[in-house]
Amino acid sequence: MTTEHGTPLPLDSSTPHSARVWNAWLGGKDHYPVDRETADRFAEIFPAIGDLARTSRYFLARTVRYLAAEAGVRQFLDIGTGLPTADNTHEVAQRVAPDARVVYVDNDPLVLAHARALLTSTPEGRTHYISADLHRPEVILRQAAETLDLGRPVALTIMQTLGHVADYEEARAIVRHLLSALPSGSYLALNDSVDPHGETAEATRLYNESGSAPYHLRPPGQIAGFFDGLELVEPGVVPLAQWRPEILDGPDPTNAAAYGGVGRKP
Ligand SMILES: C[S@@+](CC[C@H](N)C(=O)[O-])C[C@H]1O[C@@H](n2cnc3c(N)ncnc32)[C@H](O)[C@@H]1O
Repeated sequence: MTTEHGTPLPLDSSTPHSARVWNAWLGGKDHYPVDRETADRFAEIFPAIGDLARTSRYFLARTVRYLAAEAGVRQFLDIGTGLPTADNTHEVAQRVAPDARVVYVDNDPLVLAHARALLTSTPEGRTHYISADLHRPEVILRQAAETLDLGRPVALTIMQTLGHVADYEEARAIVRHLLSALPSGSYLALNDSVDPHGETAEATRLYNESGSAPYHLRPPGQIAGFFDGLELVEPGVVPLAQWRPEILDGPDPTNAAAYGGVGRKP
């Protein structure tokens, strides 16, 4: 949540926050009791939520690796970064391409505090953090341009974040606005949790009553709709575990509760 000018609200440990609840599901330690309580209540109804958070992070790592290694992208704009964890976007990208530049964007004050300490860079590359609201794409683009060359391809990554925008058309407009500023050969990599899913729908309803910024689940067709006008990279917009899996070790632990894909701007 931010003020109307898009600057972050002060740190609040009395209500659950998306980044901190997500950190609890990922097994991290950067959250408050109120976040843990919300995370646990969700997990009672949808026990696969920890698997979903990890599956989402593996999807991020595979897509960023694909973009850096196979698509040759050297610039990344990661919106809704979350608290630093294993294999953050710049670590995956710079492992493949040490000169990769990564700009992170989030509006959570705790993410800001941790990002300053932990989001370091290779000497050849650059890592920058912007404290801004996703609802203000023009602010994000203006500040990102200080680190990224927006005349060259950029991969826009938005993972498990667009559900915070209640209105689907507004969410689509934000993605379109950001992509419109990027040249041909840029990419969108995105994933989000979906409905219909009885357990996640019920758990999300309770989550949205917890005081945290509400999350809106969308059908898979709407997740695919974020890629309209882009050339989808195979295998398209699919359950996360099916996107170019690297380890074929059994069924999707999340039972297709989240979908994602990668698309190239023609
Ligand atoms: C569920 S977490 C996902 C974190 C990370 N992308 C990942 O996949 O692990 C959602 C993130 O979106 C951020 N967020 C929520 N609303 C936002 C907004 N309006 N502007 C910027 N970031 C926002 C939260 O602070 C949180 O870090």
